[in-house]
Amino acid sequence: MVVEMKKFLFCLVIVLGVYFIKTEHIFKRNSEENVMKEETSRTLTEALESTFFISKYQEEYKKINYYEEENFIETINCFLDLGYSSEEINAIYDFLTLQNREKLVALPKLDLKVYYTIPNFEVDKLERYENYQKAHHLALNEAVLKVNIGLDHDFYSTIEEVENPESYVVLVNKYRSLGQYVPTDLVPLSYDSKYQLREKARDAFEKLVSQALVENVFLRPYSAYRSFDYQNSLYNTYVNRDGKEVADSYSARPGHSEHQTGLAVDVWSRDYNFITEADAKWLKEHSYQYGFIVRYTKENQAITGYIEEPWHLRYVGEHVASTLYQQGITFDEYYDLYLK
Ligand code: DAL
Ligand code: ZN
Repeated sequence: MVVEMKKFLFCLVIVLGVYFIKTEHIFKRNSEENVMKEETSRTLTEALESTFFISKYQEEYKKINYYEEENFIETINCFLDLGYSSEEINAIYDFLTLQNREKLVALPKLDLKVYYTIPNFEVDKLERYENYQKAHHLALNEAVLKVNIGLDHDFYSTIEEVENPESYVVLVNKYRSLGQYVPTDLVPLSYDSKYQLREKARDAFEKLVSQALVENVFLRPYSAYRSFDYQNSLYNTYVNRDGKEVADSYSARPGHSEHQTGLAVDVWSRDYNFITEADAKWLKEHSYQYGFIVRYTKENQAITGYIEEPWHLRYVGEHVASTLYQQGITFDEYYDLYLK
């Protein structure tokens, strides 16, 4: 009898346990569904309350997640008019930047699925990405990066003037010009006052030189800030001497030199008119600790368009310099991925 009772109680516990687990699960599922319903029908409520409600889209409104944005209902109406489904519209809002959404709404319907995981893609460059990818057999994200830098066009064939020449992370290259920009906070280097850098870069550079000295690496600057006009005369001298093609491989055209930012400095070994291999190695391994990058390396020649310059340091600040050092990418790539 006692054994029977025990058996009964045991079964009761099991049955009750299963019941509670099940009800809790059902309850949880129901409440999740309610939240979902609430979220998705917010779009319908907002559409109904606005003057833009279109009755044929009533069912679609229910399935579109509401997104806190000015003119949301008008914009989704445009996407619906273009033929996008509620699912596609949800993905557009999940993955695309505002800039891309604004461009997309003005274009015929596109299938963007392959781009959802590539945050730096730009809607108006899709054809260029596809052509570049095919021609160079690249992964799509690599093609996007290269095209965004401008590499599907010849160097200097499309040029935009930078909007932020005074930024410490301004990107200057063969597609981006400084125009006639002159920095306002140039200061002389204590080594020799004929060399100037912007103040922050000067302080960082002097720290670098004195720390190098402690480690028996003797460095000296031999070129720092260069004005547009000075770069112009330098470039022309090189063109006359070596021809345009060769000059372009080692000298920037006026407006396109990092030296005009007041953030770039060329460094030689103290007792030579060049940089020794050992000193170049020290710069490569340590300059990021002071906020500098070695901007033109052998590996990134195809992106920068310049032959290797182990002596050319560019100040970008410690955070960016460390990231570039760790990730081993060019500043051009970093700019597109993180600064644009
Ligand atoms: N030599 C570098 C590329 C310059 O002219 O700025
Ligand atoms: Zn230089």
